[in-house]
This record gives sequence, C-alpha cells and structure tokens, in this order.
Amino acid sequence: MKLDMTFIGEFTNYAVASGNSKPRLHLDGAASPLAAQLAIETINKLLPHYSNSHSYIHNSAKITTKAFNWAHDTVLESLSADINDYTAIFMGSGTTSPSNRLARGLANARPGKEIIMVSSMEHHANDLPHRQTNNKVIHLPLTTSNKATDQGAVDLIEFETLCKKHSQNINYIAVSSVSNVTGICNPVKDIARIAHQHGALILVDAAQSVAHMPSEISENDIDFMMFSGHKIYTPMAPGVLVGKRDILALLSGQDLGGGSVADVSLHDYTLFDRFPDREQSGTPNIVGAVALARVLKELTLIGFDKILNHSTQLTKQLIDGLTRLDGINVYGDKSLARVGAVSFNHKYIDHGLLAAILNDYFAIAVRNECFCAHPYVSSLLKEELWELDIDNVAEEDEEAYINRKRGMVRASISLYTNTDDVVRFLSAIKKIINDIEFYRSHYNVDNDGLYHHNTFILDWQSQLDF
Ligand code: ALA
Repeated sequence: MKLDMTFIGEFTNYAVASGNSKPRLHLDGAASPLAAQLAIETINKLLPHYSNSHSYIHNSAKITTKAFNWAHDTVLESLSADINDYTAIFMGSGTTSPSNRLARGLANARPGKEIIMVSSMEHHANDLPHRQTNNKVIHLPLTTSNKATDQGAVDLIEFETLCKKHSQNINYIAVSSVSNVTGICNPVKDIARIAHQHGALILVDAAQSVAHMPSEISENDIDFMMFSGHKIYTPMAPGVLVGKRDILALLSGQDLGGGSVADVSLHDYTLFDRFPDREQSGTPNIVGAVALARVLKELTLIGFDKILNHSTQLTKQLIDGLTRLDGINVYGDKSLARVGAVSFNHKYIDHGLLAAILNDYFAIAVRNECFCAHPYVSSLLKEELWELDIDNVAEEDEEAYINRKRGMVRASISLYTNTDDVVRFLSAIKKIINDIEFYRSHYNVDNDGLYHHNTFILDWQSQLDF
C-alpha cells in the first residue's frame, strides 16, 4: 500500500548469527507497531507550547487545553460517535485501565445484574478485570467444527440461548472486535443487538481492530469501546475509553483528584457535570493523547476501507502461504473474516525455537508464547497438548517439555507491511523447516522454554549508544 505515512524504524538493520546484518522485518504490530513519524512531529509541534491543561489563562495553557479538547473531539469523530451521546476519556497506557475502570464501575452501578459475559478469545485485559468483581463471569463459547484448533468467532446461537436464560440479569458483554491471536473478527453488531434485547450493555475491545478497520459506533449500538494509542502507531499515547454519557454518569468518581471536581470542602466534594473532565482526575497524558488523535485522524483520511483491504489481503497471503507449508498448522477457522494477526506452529519445532531462529538468522520480529490470552491459546492447543508423545521424555523433564509446547508463533500485519515482506517471511520459514537440524544445533533451551543461541548475543547497549 502506497502511503504518505512513514514509520520510525522501518529501515533498522540488525546483525544476524550468520555474520552480516539484515534489515529488520517487523511482523509484531499486534503487540506494538512501529511509531508513526507523524506522532513525533505532532509532539514536537506541541511541546514548545506545552503546559498543563488545568492552567487556563496563559497562552501555552490555552493552546494545550484547546489541543487536548481537539483530541477528544477527533477520537469521537473518527469513530462516528455522536458527541451529544458519547464522550472520550484518556487513561492509563493501554486497554487495561479502561477495562478495570468499567468493570468496577458497572458492578457498582448495576447491582441487580449479576452476570457478565466475556468471549472465550479475550486477551487478559478484557477478561481478568471482569472476573475481579463479585459478579459471575460466563465465558462465551466460540463456533467450532470437530477440532478445537479450528475454533471461530463468538457463537451467536449459543450466545442468544445464554442471553435468554439470564435475560435482564446480565450486566454487560465484553468482547473484542478482532482476536489478538487469530485475527478472527467477531460479529460485534449482532452481539450488541442481542445484548440490548436482554437488558445487557456491551463493551467492545477494539485494541486489535482500531488500526485495521472502521471502528464505528454511529448507530448508538455500542455502549463502550476501548482501544489504545500504542496499537495505532503512537507508543507514547494513553488508553482510550469511548462511552455513552448517560451510563458513564452512573460510574463517575472512581479515581478522584484535581481536574474532575467543581468544588471541594473539608467534608465534601462535587464532581463536574461536564464530560470528559469529571472522568479525568489528575494531569492526563496530554501530549500522547494529542499525538494519538492526530495519527487517528490521518488514518481516517487515508481511509479505513483502504486500510482494511490492505490488512485483509496480506493476512490472507500469510495464511495461504503458511497453510501450504509441510507441518504447519494455522490456528482458527480459516473460512472466517480475519485481519492482522496469524498464529501457527510447526509440528516438530517449538514455537520458542522458531521465533528465535527468525530473529537471530533472518532479522524477522514475531511474537511467540501465549500473547496474554492464555485460556484461548490453551483451548486452541488442547488436542495437540493431549496428543503429545512423552514416553521418551524423562519424568523430571516432562513439565518443561510440555511448557515448551504451550504457545504459538504469531506474525502480524501493519500499515508498513507489504507483499514482499510476506514473501520474505514465508521463504524464511521454509528455509528453517528444511535446515532445522543445522539451526537446532546452535541453540540450548532453559527451563522456562527460552531458546538461547550458543554464540550469538545481541549487544543492546551499543544499539542505543548508552
Ligand atoms: N495484546 C498484546 C499482544 O497481543 C499484548 O501482543
């Protein structure tokens, strides 16, 4: 995709174990994509005027406050959210803060509703906070054929049955629009419709979709949406919660401090009526929020339909290419819409070894292990783990052996990824499979399943000139 956007680190080179150096291929955008040059430019423009948004009277404070307000409005506009119904709040450094804030707030605000439904494919940020309340969490089943490894999206029939069973007793549904493991897209609009029919609210975790597709809440059908700036090329940015004002009004006042209160005496305090102030106590990450909004606006100008097309095509190229290779299993139902992330394993090569070889010999950056989505990854691996042949493994090594198999390799697509990158990645995987004994002989593995090259060590300090 031809873009006007540039990214910092697109041309980083690293030494490789074979003795020369190679341009790093970054296929780990699902965790954190490279930073957009535009994010840094925005910060550099704002910093000469930088001030706290709580000081109103001097010029720098006025510019900073206006820019911060603009960031809120721009987020809402980018999501086509009606400013009269919704507000945007910046907090924390990812989706973890919005998720925790909502879980606490909704448990208190809707006390009679004891059930929370969470999809079975969530990363921990959209699962653990909901389990921490006194409510009962039901994990929503996914569609599946005969094999656990081919699981799909949230099963709408099962979901509706559960909603009927617990109707009017469900507090909210928490579901991600796209999985960070398989890139499978959930039918979020249908889930919202069914949830509302049964008196439940919906929280959509857009962490993995926000960089790839339109995140629209234009039909007032989503109660809350959260995402994070670091997933849209702005690593220094906060997390974002977009929510309906009338529901948020019931949850306000959890994190108290300056900025959110209209009046305070020694005995009492009054929160501001206005949003988002009443939700943003303390000094927010103003600079990061403005950079995030500027980048989001740019993505909107490029066009999310175009971006989605780019991500979908490359994801398909990855899945098709990997599926054709001997011994590779790509996880998740391949007939479904998928975007961004692709996770896989080779039958005889541990995910840790494969990821280490990709890095050390090919300068290809991928993530491996369980991607902070342990229950989902474990359920996709269920059959493979059961089928492991441990007859020839010494008893004292069994646990470490099984742990080395508990995980996957994940390659993910970003705006700076192109077709040639996918070809380079696939040819590296092919070469590793063909020459696996050569590569394997250069590694040892520790008890945590981490593979270490026998001689090749990265000198990180020289990279940073520290
Ligand atoms: N959710 C992040 C990932 O998938 C951390 O890597």
